[in-house]
Amino acid sequence: MVPQERDTFSGKFGIIAAAAGSAVGLGNIWRFPYVAGENGGGAFLLVYLSFIFVIGVPVMLSEFVIGRKAQLNAFGSFKKLAPDKPWYIIGLMGIVAAFLILAFYTTIAGWTLEYLYQALTNGFNGKSSDELRATFESFRSGSVKPIIWQLVFMGLTAAIVLAGVKKGIEKYAKILMPLLVLLIIIMSIRSVTLPGAAKGLEFLFKPDFSKITWKVALEALGQAAFSLSIGMGALITYGSYIQKDNKLTTTALQVSIADTSIAILAGIMIFPAVFAFNIDPTEGFGLVFIVLPNIFQQMVGGYFFSILFFILLAVAALTSTISVLEVVVAYFVEELKMTRKVATLVGASSIAVIGVFCTLSFGPLSETTLFGKTIFGLFDWTTANLLLPFGALLIVLFLGWYLGKKVITDELTNGGTIKVRILGALVFIIKFIAPIAISLVFLYSLGIIKL
Ligand code: PFF
Repeated sequence: MVPQERDTFSGKFGIIAAAAGSAVGLGNIWRFPYVAGENGGGAFLLVYLSFIFVIGVPVMLSEFVIGRKAQLNAFGSFKKLAPDKPWYIIGLMGIVAAFLILAFYTTIAGWTLEYLYQALTNGFNGKSSDELRATFESFRSGSVKPIIWQLVFMGLTAAIVLAGVKKGIEKYAKILMPLLVLLIIIMSIRSVTLPGAAKGLEFLFKPDFSKITWKVALEALGQAAFSLSIGMGALITYGSYIQKDNKLTTTALQVSIADTSIAILAGIMIFPAVFAFNIDPTEGFGLVFIVLPNIFQQMVGGYFFSILFFILLAVAALTSTISVLEVVVAYFVEELKMTRKVATLVGASSIAVIGVFCTLSFGPLSETTLFGKTIFGLFDWTTANLLLPFGALLIVLFLGWYLGKKVITDELTNGGTIKVRILGALVFIIKFIAPIAISLVFLYSLGIIKL
């Protein structure tokens, strides 16, 4: 390998593993089922899948292009590629989004640590579905325990970010991600063989077209953006580490397919069990935490599988939180000239302070609401459904219209050295289809335009 100034991912699999590490996380296993459950199941899945390919893949590709071209973090990339123009606002929005996402994401990541602890101490064993729910409710509405777990998780994230991108991420993602997939498949098999499971499969795969509304479209767009880690520049930073001879179109497609397959698998694991155990699919934030222990109870080797599952889920969450914190740290280091250590400590601790309020939304602050949402709900909704899609819109506009066709062609063909068969279509999607699709969803779902 030619020595380069910036760290690059070693080999083809390094970048796929790292980008997939960012994409695959609680978004797939916790958020996808709860949002799909609240938005009609099959109808939601259909819209979600369309958005992954029409909007998600092109935006991911755009982020890779921008990052690899600029060789900088999100904020720096816009400053470098568009000097004296306000496009760096996209970078700033991304940093705000990173703060808010990490704040609420670590609440749920903390829950996975508590569940790992419960799995280890055999805490699910012999409990009825109602008892499992009661234990969960009493844990999450407390203050001390969920906050401690959240802070532990934030500390882990910060520790790994301090160790640097390559060492920190690549190593773990490569081995553990396939193991997580295998485990989800095993649990899905158990779930679909439960009595009454068929109803769950029907819920997930049989779209009721009358359920497709602009609100569902916005939720699907938000979920697609959140799950793929697009719209806030996280993948711009990753793009800056991708080798110059990597075929970006293949990488973006592989990462998106991997991420989406894992979300669907999570659906197959969760929904049959939802119906088998008479749980309400519109349960909300707690859905998977209520369902999962029930599945383990019904599995041979449930004790072992539950421990392994929550370890792997925590690691999957960790590879995502690392990528979010990395956005903040890269900005602090490269733009504000902090040392990596100071940047990580300042970033992680300030986010942790905000994060505590998200965790308390399930307990002492549950009555503190705005637009009918708790602090947690507001952070979750606003980042996924507004900030990320809006960031995604600006990113495709920046690449498609400001940098233009030549830059796209150059980067996608690696300076004309490789052939990309669908190049023309991709340019068209980046310039027209993706921005129009995102704008329409915004305009209609937010009631700016009425049919
Ligand atoms: N994609 C991650 C998940 O699905 O869990 C969450 C995420 C990571 C969102 C990084 C945004 C991001 F920049």
